[in-house]
Amino acid sequence: CHSRVISNAKNTVQSFKRFHGRAFSDPFVQAEKTSLAYELVQLPTGSTGIKVMYMEEERNFTIEQVTGMLLTKLKETAENALKKPVVDCVVSVPCFYTDAERRSVMDATQIAGLNCLRIINETTAVALAYGIYKQDLPALEEKPRNVVFVDMGHSAYQVSVCAFNKGKLKVLATAFDTTLGGRKFDEMLVEYFCEEFGKKYKLDIKSKIRALLRLYQECEKLKKLMSANASDLPMNIECFMNDIDVSGTMNRSKFLEMCDGLLARVEAPLRSVLEQAKLKKEDIYAVEIVGGTTRIPAVKEKISKFFGKEVSTTLNADEAVARGCALQCAILSPAFKVREFSITDLIPYPISLRWNSPAEEGLSDCEVFPKNHPAPFSKVLTFYRKEPFTLEAYYSSPKELPYPDPAIGTHFLVQKVTPQTDGSSSKVKVKVRVNIHGIFSVSSASLVEVHKSDENEEPMETDQHAKEEEVMDFKMQVDQEEQQKTEEQQQAQPENKGESEEMETSQADSKDKKVDQPPQAKKAKVKTTTVDLPIENQLVWQIGKDMLNLFIENEGKMIMQDKLEKERNDAKNAVEEYVYDMRDKLCGIYEKFVTEDDRNSFTLKLEDTENWLYEDGEDQPKQVYIDKLTELKTLGQPIQARFQESEERPKAFEDLGKQIQQYMKTVHAFKAKDEQYDHLDEADVAKVEKSANEAMEWMNNKLNLQNKRSLTLDPVIKAKDIQAKTKELASICNPIVTKPKPKVELPKEEQKPPEPNGPVEGQGDGNSGSQTADEQSAAAAQTATEKKLPEMDID
Ligand SMILES: *[C@@H]1O[C@H](CO)[C@@H](O)[C@H](O)[C@H]1NC(C)=O
Ligand SMILES: *[C@@H]1O[C@H](CO)[C@@H](O)[C@H](O)[C@H]1NC(C)=O
Ligand SMILES: *[C@@H]1O[C@H](CO)[C@@H](O)[C@H](O)[C@H]1NC(C)=O
Ligand SMILES: *[C@@H]1O[C@H](CO)[C@@H](O)[C@H](O)[C@H]1NC(C)=O
Repeated sequence: CHSRVISNAKNTVQSFKRFHGRAFSDPFVQAEKTSLAYELVQLPTGSTGIKVMYMEEERNFTIEQVTGMLLTKLKETAENALKKPVVDCVVSVPCFYTDAERRSVMDATQIAGLNCLRIINETTAVALAYGIYKQDLPALEEKPRNVVFVDMGHSAYQVSVCAFNKGKLKVLATAFDTTLGGRKFDEMLVEYFCEEFGKKYKLDIKSKIRALLRLYQECEKLKKLMSANASDLPMNIECFMNDIDVSGTMNRSKFLEMCDGLLARVEAPLRSVLEQAKLKKEDIYAVEIVGGTTRIPAVKEKISKFFGKEVSTTLNADEAVARGCALQCAILSPAFKVREFSITDLIPYPISLRWNSPAEEGLSDCEVFPKNHPAPFSKVLTFYRKEPFTLEAYYSSPKELPYPDPAIGTHFLVQKVTPQTDGSSSKVKVKVRVNIHGIFSVSSASLVEVHKSDENEEPMETDQHAKEEEVMDFKMQVDQEEQQKTEEQQQAQPENKGESEEMETSQADSKDKKVDQPPQAKKAKVKTTTVDLPIENQLVWQIGKDMLNLFIENEGKMIMQDKLEKERNDAKNAVEEYVYDMRDKLCGIYEKFVTEDDRNSFTLKLEDTENWLYEDGEDQPKQVYIDKLTELKTLGQPIQARFQESEERPKAFEDLGKQIQQYMKTVHAFKAKDEQYDHLDEADVAKVEKSANEAMEWMNNKLNLQNKRSLTLDPVIKAKDIQAKTKELASICNPIVTKPKPKVELPKEEQKPPEPNGPVEGQGDGNSGSQTADEQSAAAAQTATEKKLPEMDID
């Protein structure tokens, strides 16, 4: 909310997603810190926190907690719209996010009580949103369609090239500029006007955060205007600073000149993706642009000029990422049936492992996942060891990394490793994995035990590594994605932080079941057994389990607190509304129904309450407001009731009168020997006449009394009593006057009841009619929920 940003700047947290998984000392955090209205702090763990006032108390929240709050809010919004609980989610992150940043986002989803099915790259989400509805993609065996996606948003610029076939999407390459976005373009304007207004009006704008924030907002608006209008545009801000109004002008060509340096950065990532994917410009079928900043004409031009073709805007620039996430969530969630769409992503930075090698007497390392390796993916590494050992994972080309620390996990300790019974090294298989969230882990380890009785056999032969020598203490093998499932399912290691792996298991299930076979069947031939080994993880900036649980608990408390606060506010608002409503009506529609004295004292009471609401009553517990309202209502209720009665009474009398008239008409017709009624019994008709006359007398009596009575007093007779009288009369007379004629030519028509009992039958009709309508709409709702997603309108 824009005005909130300015009026409560210190307590309004925005643009915080870039601090996920970063230490407070991170140079990036340090650089950003100065331009924020809210305060960043160093938490005891060393990570970045945000300081705000919460319930009149200073609090330091972790980034995970703040994102957790945002997600909680989004969850509530979705739940209110869908009228059902929301648990599963897919969250997008920039494709250049590293392990620590992804883990941090994952923790935030847990704090919000969400089950994150996938952390997806923004670029990939966009590609999915593009591909899933396309009916004309090339068949699987045909040459894929290559599409470039260019996403320039508020803070970053991401480019990907993807290959599409029917039901399939493969990311071929990604490239990015992590700081090129709309914000940078706004900054150019802000800098310009800071200087311009500084000179012209002698203002030090940067010294006053509120003025600076306001300038940012105005510059963002101006930038958008310039995208549509190339002429000179005014920049006016009233009461900008020290009560001074400021004004200036800007136009598109001047703006472009200022942004020359930024625009020059557009091309490099475009070139990079083509080079990485080994594609030529002619190989590209389309260039799709998304993200608000691609609306700047010069940015669009740069892109289309580079590729030598018009850019397409098939996708909604602001919503494409969110739609991609929703679709991915529907694909992964069992709650929806969506057409299959397989996604292969890739690893943006090479990942290596490092360990102490007893054979080589020093550190060894190995690049396990090279750049642009497909993901998710697992590999099995084999070590020959006699004792527990430690692996260290890190990004092996720190220069490419938009993050200061290349370490992923400093410490994956493979425990309980023992030598073979003959004292030689044991074979230890370690599985490393980049999972569906793009998070790296040493996911399992097992020790291959060779049994004494089988010693004459060479077990390694089955692995086609019979020639392996003892000194060779390590080898790497690529596991097929399918095979690892059997192993993974055996794993139940307490140390292994299981949440991500579990989700992946459920996602990959359908694929893996086909090859799922008893794990022992294969191993038995080898005459070895494998023993699972526990792994201890120590990750950089990982929130501990205890801490996470505490955060989850705190989030729950804050949700409760918000709920109580909302109820309290609602109770207060109810009092305020009642005061205004009553005051209006007392000199309006209620005026006739209250004596002048009562009206004056009630009005006074309402005024007192209004004043109280702004003074002592401003901040009271919920019950106080509830009691206040009850007190006011004891005065207001009788007036309201008298008004209500006077509204309903004439109609009730009228209905009764009509009823009486109808019966009298029948009686007269009978007496006149109308053949329609010649089957009726004379005594019965006399009973009708008597009842109708009595009712008439009753009605006239009541009408008389009521007409003499002041409206400021409770009425002599209530509308509901008159209605009861009408009913009573009908119950006596209806059976008589509607008695069917014994024998007639057109029984149907004759049986049609005369008008008097119309209302009774009518009611029945009304009910059955509305039931049908309900059933119909229920059926419609059901078909809607059963509908497959691709047919759904997701607007
Ligand atoms: C928040 O962090 C700052 C800086 O580390 C510290 O001085 C302050 O005491 C912390 N406040 C709370 C409430 O923990
Ligand atoms: C561009 O802005 C100017 C100045 O506000 C205005 O007079 C003109 O009508 C605008 N042109 C278009 C095409 O909107
Ligand atoms: C834009 O502004 C510059 C500098 O103020 C001026 O020289 C130029 O004529 C303007 N261009 C248009 C199209 O208004
Ligand atoms: C995108 O996400 C995947 C996880 O699906 C991750 O492995 C990979 O690092 C990301 N790819 C890119 C190109 O950033």
